[in-house]
Amino acid sequence: MKILITGSNGMLAYALKKTLKKENRLILADIDNMDITKTKEVSNFFTKAKPEFVIHTAAYTDVDGAQNNKSLAFKINRDGTRNVAMAAKKMDIPVVYISTDYVFGDNKRKPYTENDRPNPLSIYGLSKYAGEKEARKNPKHYIVRSAWLYGPNGKNFVLTILRLAKELDELKIVNDQRGCPTYTFDLAEGIAKLIKTNKFSTYHLTNSGSSTWYQFAKEILKIKKIKKKVLPITSKELNRPAKRPSYSVLSGAKINRLKIRLKSWQKALKNYLKTIKL
Ligand SMILES: NC(=O)c1ccc[n+]([C@@H]2O[C@H](COP(=O)([O-])OP(=O)(O)OC[C@H]3O[C@@H](n4cnc5c(N)ncnc54)[C@H](OP(=O)(O)O)[C@@H]3O)[C@@H](O)[C@H]2O)c1
Repeated sequence: MKILITGSNGMLAYALKKTLKKENRLILADIDNMDITKTKEVSNFFTKAKPEFVIHTAAYTDVDGAQNNKSLAFKINRDGTRNVAMAAKKMDIPVVYISTDYVFGDNKRKPYTENDRPNPLSIYGLSKYAGEKEARKNPKHYIVRSAWLYGPNGKNFVLTILRLAKELDELKIVNDQRGCPTYTFDLAEGIAKLIKTNKFSTYHLTNSGSSTWYQFAKEILKIKKIKKKVLPITSKELNRPAKRPSYSVLSGAKINRLKIRLKSWQKALKNYLKTIKL
């Protein structure tokens, strides 16, 4: 299949490229050759490249930065997604839109299902939810909500913890946000299976299990055998510009019924850390 990947220089796209290139022909687009906010540029790109399938990862992904850049976040995450989804619809081809656990707010204390109503707490979450609505205008859509991504080719929490462990005597990590850390390579494998099902819908897809950022940090240091004091703190103490949900665990029950299930976050983390030399 001829698959167009938007945001192809990004972190998830890196894993998608490695995973999908074995069985598919890939067309790569990032802001330098297809700015998704430019309607004509997008439609011209589609006409020329003639993709048979689109995986749309391009996004404004700076969660804190979005708080002061609302119009840019919406321009990229909502309007850009409209351009991509409509260009795909015109060609009658499917689109995968990657969304986020941050579309949910603090409504629940058990894993969110695809039927739960989003309630974003941040501009980023609102703009990604607006993007979901645009993607749904293409009847052939998969909306894949994932969370807390890490992997090669990007800044991520794992690398930050390893760096801070070198620089500081003790680490202070938030312990009142619970979510699902997810390795980009596992997510990419799941997406590769999902797009073969033709079961267009919204899905939650993360590594299984859940943790807080504090537990995640402790596990990173444990696997790497780094002895370092880690203190749990609250989100209030950290005081980031964007509010995050205190609980955004996603239920994978729906995608599990398609026999797609990602390994535990601890196993995934071990695999990723094997690739990192200190
Ligand atoms: N990271 C997470 O924890 C997480 C969690 C859940 C869902 N997601 C979603 O997963 C997807 C991939 O995330 P990621 O972390 O891999 O993102 P990323 O590394 O930030 O990659 C996004 C890519 O999109 C590009 N882009 C930005 N504006 C664009 C535009 N106007 N036109 C074309 N391309 C543009 C970026 O280019 P520049 O770098 O030059 O701006 C970047 O290469 C996103 O949709 C994100 O919302 C991420």
